[in-house]
Amino acid sequence: MMLKHIIRTSFMALVGAAIVTSCDTSPDHPGYIYFPDMTYSQAYETMTPNELLADSQTQQLAVYGAIPRGFQPFHYENNITDYARSAEELTNPIEASEETIEEGKYFYDIYCAICHGEGGEGNGHIVELEKFPAPPSYFNDYMLALEDGKMFFSIHYGKGLMGSYASQLTQEERWKVITYINHLQDEYVGADAEEAPADTTESTEAAAEAEATAMIN
Ligand code: HEC
Repeated sequence: MMLKHIIRTSFMALVGAAIVTSCDTSPDHPGYIYFPDMTYSQAYETMTPNELLADSQTQQLAVYGAIPRGFQPFHYENNITDYARSAEELTNPIEASEETIEEGKYFYDIYCAICHGEGGEGNGHIVELEKFPAPPSYFNDYMLALEDGKMFFSIHYGKGLMGSYASQLTQEERWKVITYINHLQDEYVGADAEEAPADTTESTEAAAEAEATAMIN
């Protein structure tokens, strides 16, 4: 009788303990595991320590000098020496064709026309609203003589009041925009040869000003 009582009491205690410990209201612990291999991963978790590696961290930094796939490094510092170097070393790899000019125009209209103007005369929308000082026209002497490499450099780093477009335009897209600007300039020069523009004072002034800024930068 005594033994029976002990067995019954211990059984009840066991069931009671099982009920108490198994009852978890958290939805994160439903009490069953579908994929034990995933729940108890054999692989190291990203943020955990790792005794196999020299710095004891599972998450390793990229190897020094590594670049993301498809990314092209730009080996120029933002200074006047490298600005000058860009003019000598960088050439536009894009061949001007109807298609590449059209693609360049597409990006130009999105990113540049707002200041430089749709036609490139420095009279973009925000300039007309008097929210921003006019950038130099692409058709003044300074801009007509500006090398493609320097244009690329300035699009990469920005210049004066103009910000950098390195994060908006890939290198290829930048060259296409330059192809389009050259196309506008060629058209202008062609038109210029036929009929000389009446007033060049403004563009000469802008050229002098742009050159002065180039010296400061
Ligand atoms: C917010 C207005 C603004 C936008 C947008 C802008 N620019 Fe400019 N840009 C300027 C100004 C202002 C200058 C004159 C900078 C200076 O010389 O101080 C300039 C100068 C330039 C120059 C001459 C750089 C040099 O080396 O002298 C080029 C080329 C140029 N921009 C191209 C572009 C292209 C291409 C885009 C679009 C991807 C663009 N800009 C977008 C305002 C802008």
